[in-house]
Amino acid sequence: MRILLVASAFNSLTQRVHAELRERGHEVGIELALGDDHLRTRVTEFEPELILAPMLTTAIPEDIWTAHTVLIVHPGPKGDRGPSSLDWAIHEGAWAWGVTVLQAVADMDAGPIWATEPFAVAACGKSELYRNEVADAAVRAVLTAVNRFATGRFAPEPLDYDRPDVHGRLRPYHEQHYRRIDWTADDTATVLRKLRAADSQPGVLDELYGREFFLHGGFGEDRLRGRPGAVLATRDGAICRATVDGAVWLPQLRSRRIPGGPATYKLPATIALGRDLPDVPEAPVTPAEAATRDTWSELRYREENEVGYLEFAFGGGAMSTEQCRRLLAAYRHACTRPVDVLVLGPARDFFSNGIHLNVIEASDDPATESWHNINAMNDLVEAILTTTDKLVVAALAGNAAAGGVMLALAADEVWCRESVVLNPHYRLMGLHGSEYWTYTLPRRVGAAEADRLIREALPVGARAAANLGLVDRALPGDTEEFWSRVRRDAENLSAASELADRLVAKKRRRAGDEADRPLSAYRASELAQMRRNFYHPGEPYHALRRDFVHKVRPAATPPHLTVT
Ligand code: COA
Repeated sequence: MRILLVASAFNSLTQRVHAELRERGHEVGIELALGDDHLRTRVTEFEPELILAPMLTTAIPEDIWTAHTVLIVHPGPKGDRGPSSLDWAIHEGAWAWGVTVLQAVADMDAGPIWATEPFAVAACGKSELYRNEVADAAVRAVLTAVNRFATGRFAPEPLDYDRPDVHGRLRPYHEQHYRRIDWTADDTATVLRKLRAADSQPGVLDELYGREFFLHGGFGEDRLRGRPGAVLATRDGAICRATVDGAVWLPQLRSRRIPGGPATYKLPATIALGRDLPDVPEAPVTPAEAATRDTWSELRYREENEVGYLEFAFGGGAMSTEQCRRLLAAYRHACTRPVDVLVLGPARDFFSNGIHLNVIEASDDPATESWHNINAMNDLVEAILTTTDKLVVAALAGNAAAGGVMLALAADEVWCRESVVLNPHYRLMGLHGSEYWTYTLPRRVGAAEADRLIREALPVGARAAANLGLVDRALPGDTEEFWSRVRRDAENLSAASELADRLVAKKRRRAGDEADRPLSAYRASELAQMRRNFYHPGEPYHALRRDFVHKVRPAATPPHLTVT
């Protein structure tokens, strides 16, 4: 079928739907919702049989939805309407929620229902929920709706609030006054719900040291206590604030834009506060200790049945110079442990999206900070590539992009959850790319395929990635099922009689590859190009990065997306 995806941005869910539909043989076009006339022209040119909107914040014009069937993905159960569905669900502590596919009509979210899917609400931020449970339910609902449409016989169900299975209702925009935290009254559970309902956008507006900030993130703390609202400690760029009955960690802040002033963006909390942050103590925690505590940490390390697990979780998957260095130190420490198999990866969300473009943007010298950041990433990747006495598995429960994909490819095996979307390319940020991708990517998929992936700059679903050899396995199920399978398979690897032979073969292969062309040569040639990307005045990287960090909408659908 010819299906046109219309979306406010080519975001994770739209990418996932794109990958899933293409895998099923549909011809899929993409049009960003950047104006009714653009959309009309594209619809005329593309001649879709069905229009599908996985993530749309604006209305489709009437002449389009009267002439075509337009299906909208709404992140709420039957009857739920309004622009802040997930915010309300989390704010009110809902434990079960849903995704509904509705036909576009004049009233927003009021059209006939084509499919609906329930999901359990995990205790996490809104965008993490969106990229996990919501995305999985949305894909199930979309595939059902598309199949129903294809039969030509399905009659969608009109929205009827008298039906017993219609529990939702119309709710207003979730304004800041619902989100406001009263630090002298709200308990930790309430503070966490408010923070999570606002994460990652728009954050909770609050005041710190006389300045207004949007607070981002929201994680519990088991030990630190103090005067409600006070900043008690810092850790790896985050701040810890006391509540009436505990404390919470806030990894990132965005200062409120002053009218007429420059646009603002999220930064690690201690960077955003800068000199306003008084002398508060650091509260360090080792990865091994963090794994046994209920506290915020980007790094956790534990061992189970002879397997080491190094878990990392960086907000938005972005890894600054410091974050890369901390992960490298934790990796080196894990390498000293008496385990033969080491599993790397976050519990649920992004695996990695490469260098930290916001931290780079905020630095006094973005070119030099970019240089430090890519070198820190390379040091980490090199440490993984040169580990020859252990088998290293990259476990991707969530998506990865750019250098984050290449970080995974440094491992001996790459295991992905089936829902994962990979973006193995750098071109959209105006970068040649590094992280030894010129060694690892062709090694996995061959030179021609590597060239296509880098040039086309399109997302690849996990199953397609496994077919290409880009990853080794695409495992079904939710994140819990994924991790229980990863644990079982990692334990089997560690117990297997062939393990010793595999390690010998790995060592031999690395030595052979090194003799053919040393890793240092790959690094030097990649970095020569990156140096040019960072320092040459004619290069597009700085402008593209600025637009990304400031979330500048493109004027038209980017050409690489209009190819079907
Ligand atoms: N640096 C800083 N922030 C990053 C980031 C990076 N490398 N990659 C993602 N983020 C942030 C986004 O700004 C966004 O922030 P928000 O929560 O405040 O809105 C959040 O992480 C999620 O990203 P988003 O773009 O909304 O998710 P998506 O699933 O729609 O798209 C990507 C994912 C990876 C395709 C897209 O974020 C991207 O292109 N990132 C840049 C990748 C890159 O070029 N890295 C540098 C080269 S190594």
